[in-house]
Amino acid sequence: MTNIRVAGIAGSLRKASLNRGLLRAAVALAPSGMTLETEEIADIPFYDGDVEAAGIPASVAALASRIRAADALLIVTPEYNYSIPGVLKNALDWLSRVPQSPLSGKPAAILSASPGMMGGARAQYQLRQILNGCGLLLIGRPEVFVMNARDKFDPQGELTDGKTREKVGELLVALRDWTLRLGQSPRS
Ligand code: FNR
Repeated sequence: MTNIRVAGIAGSLRKASLNRGLLRAAVALAPSGMTLETEEIADIPFYDGDVEAAGIPASVAALASRIRAADALLIVTPEYNYSIPGVLKNALDWLSRVPQSPLSGKPAAILSASPGMMGGARAQYQLRQILNGCGLLLIGRPEVFVMNARDKFDPQGELTDGKTREKVGELLVALRDWTLRLGQSPRS
């Protein structure tokens, strides 16, 4: 079977992040025909048009080239004040400014986890709007909102909830099939 490569980005920088844990679970749950690799956004500077005019920063260029080399993107976001974290928006803003943006036309899926009852749903809908603006081609379903997330991870931060693991697996299969349907593969 064709293998697609997916770049995964978590919108939280903290080590014990629920969303980083959710992305780790997704890496482990990647279905046949998919390799999911985690990318980091901690080194991305604040967007500044003057910096951009002087040249795309090395950390942004490196992230852009890794995303360009991937067939699809998975973004796992926390919800901050009903929206996405500034660090994630900042990274997306930079990536949208790189010539021939690696976001444009890239198949993508989103996930979120929150200790609250909404599971990050409000952030996901805002992220969906932003990603549409960046030209990504998002899958519509399944929608996976990991609510009451503290109950779904063990003390080591690993996703233990069976139903959630199943839903994450379904999302990844949908992303794989969507990517193949859009003809972004094969690469290997
Ligand atoms: C939050 N949190 C939060 N949760 C939520 O469901 N809706 C919200 O609007 C907010 N707002 C919010 C703002 C700020 C500034 C912080 C720091 C946190 C709680 C948030 O979901 C919780 O801290 C998660 O654990 C953050 O995700 P990670 O870091 O665990 O991945």
